[in-house]
Amino acid sequence: MRWAKSLFLILKKIEGKGYRAYKQIEGAYEFPEFCLYIDHVQQDPYAPPSRVRVRVKQRNAKIPPRLFKNRIRKIALEDYLTRCFAKNIHQVAKGKRGSGKSGKITVLPCSQKVLERTCMKVNEEFVEVRFFVGLPARGRKILGKEAEEMFFKEVPLIVKNSLFHEKISCKELERHIYTVEDAQYIRDHLKERGLVAFVGNNSHLPRASGVDERPLLSKKVIPFTSPPSLEVTFNLPNSGTIKGMGIPQGITLIVGGGYHGKSTLLNALAAGCYNHIPGDGREWVVTVEDAVKIRAEDGRFISNVDISPFINHLPFGEDTTSFSTKNASGSTSQAANIIEALEAGTSLLLIDEDTSATNFMIRDERMQELVVKEKEPITPLIDKIKLLYRDLKVSTILVMGGSGDYFDVADTVIMLDSYRVFDVSEKARTIAKKHRTSRRFEGGESFGKVKERFPLKESFNPYKAGKVNIKTRGKEKLIFGKEVIDLSCVEQIVEEAQVKSIGDIIYYMAKNIFNENISLRKSLDIVEEKIKKGEIDTLFRIKSGEYALPRRQEIAASINRLPSLKCKTLKNA
Ligand SMILES: Nc1ncnc2c1ncn2[C@@H]1O[C@H](COP(=O)(O)OP(=O)(O)OP(=O)(O)O)[C@@H](O)[C@H]1O
Ligand SMILES: [Mg+2]
Repeated sequence: MRWAKSLFLILKKIEGKGYRAYKQIEGAYEFPEFCLYIDHVQQDPYAPPSRVRVRVKQRNAKIPPRLFKNRIRKIALEDYLTRCFAKNIHQVAKGKRGSGKSGKITVLPCSQKVLERTCMKVNEEFVEVRFFVGLPARGRKILGKEAEEMFFKEVPLIVKNSLFHEKISCKELERHIYTVEDAQYIRDHLKERGLVAFVGNNSHLPRASGVDERPLLSKKVIPFTSPPSLEVTFNLPNSGTIKGMGIPQGITLIVGGGYHGKSTLLNALAAGCYNHIPGDGREWVVTVEDAVKIRAEDGRFISNVDISPFINHLPFGEDTTSFSTKNASGSTSQAANIIEALEAGTSLLLIDEDTSATNFMIRDERMQELVVKEKEPITPLIDKIKLLYRDLKVSTILVMGGSGDYFDVADTVIMLDSYRVFDVSEKARTIAKKHRTSRRFEGGESFGKVKERFPLKESFNPYKAGKVNIKTRGKEKLIFGKEVIDLSCVEQIVEEAQVKSIGDIIYYMAKNIFNENISLRKSLDIVEEKIKKGEIDTLFRIKSGEYALPRRQEIAASINRLPSLKCKTLKNA
């Protein structure tokens, strides 16, 4: 470790020189109140910015240990400090000075979700932030004086204002941590209460727009209120008691007129597998952590999935017990999405009629008569949904405004009327009795077995032109070697940094885990185990603050969409 002074001297020496001379500043420097690590210097001012870390000893940061005494508090604290760091960059840093990314200081951007990310680390010894610095240049000529200002004025001030406990708003920080801990408490207690989801009274569900997940700010927003029959109470560790709607295990329908808020509620439930920041409006919308939103996704790749519980006897006798295609149809894609979710592990499916294949959802009496069972490959969800719960204990919450046939299979029916929620379960049962349908049940004796698949190692080639090529294009695309993984329909990926992690995790799995005898499910267990043990850095290619943790469900979803994926399946498993 060198003294900070030596960084100052190098910057003075290389002033005006060619950009490559910046390489000399790589290394560690001791500042009065922290250590600065310049881990990687960018090639030129237009390349991805340089990777930098600052580590503050706890004797200076003085973050009270109670604020990170358990895993969930630690995640919430780190999330808060990252936001604080970003805010201070905004307030302190001058920003662009020179060409390309010159002068920019950035840290991983955070969505409304509280995720575990690699940009902040707090433990008993230190607080470490990993961020990015665009080393300044004009053209390709080093602006050493500007760099000096960044490292000796801006960075120390940003660090001090955001990582030193005395400078942080205690009230806001504690509210952040306590909210997240309380939401996690609800999630951890759903199962023992026989619930799959909770929506707190006064939650604010609608979002600013379809592409902006911040809350809709309008006087017209109707706050959520639970119907009395579904209301439950939780005694939270920090915030006292909270009341709200508990959605029981089993099959729940969300019905109601068009534009009355059905999808908004379902989307909030899908987001509820994550914790939210205070003020989001959905901080008390909590769903079981393995909930998976299912939709139709025609055109997707499918590799060796046994979709036979839903689809059989395709034209030309195509095998549906190990179904592969480069261009799935609406129904086959939705069937594969369900089976893959069951394989990765889930106890709750969330399905919206808006994004479903109609023939996958329902086949009414008249259609049963016109197209006889032998001519229809699809067993619709309506005939499997109860078996899914009976045999595999997987609940479903379904938005279904279009077909009352589902009343026969629902345990709970929630109606939205002008954004207000009513429990209409009894009414729906009465109607189902009054107007009996004579549609025939087509679901068979059981749901069917979910087979394990064994991804073949040769499916994963991260190289392109001899170099590892793993890149993201927003949340929607992951490039792995020469392949492009389309994630645009994987709705529960919430930050690009999760996609970044998924790319590196697949690389890790391909190198260290996958072989013909390890199933996809088992390999996800291994990765999850490492995450739980706090070994997340070992999963990633570089020690950098650019990763946010995904759930195992989204890692699986990405592997399943890799065009080169091939899996071994056991014939009679
Ligand atoms: N509680 C609420 N208060 C005010 N506006 C809301 C509320 N919930 C949802 N909205 C808004 O109402 C509109 C319609 O909501 P949504 O898409 O959920 O309707 P829907 O019932 O799914 O309609 P459709 O049947 O046509 O799919 C959206 O613009 C949404 O932001
Ligand atoms: Mg809708």
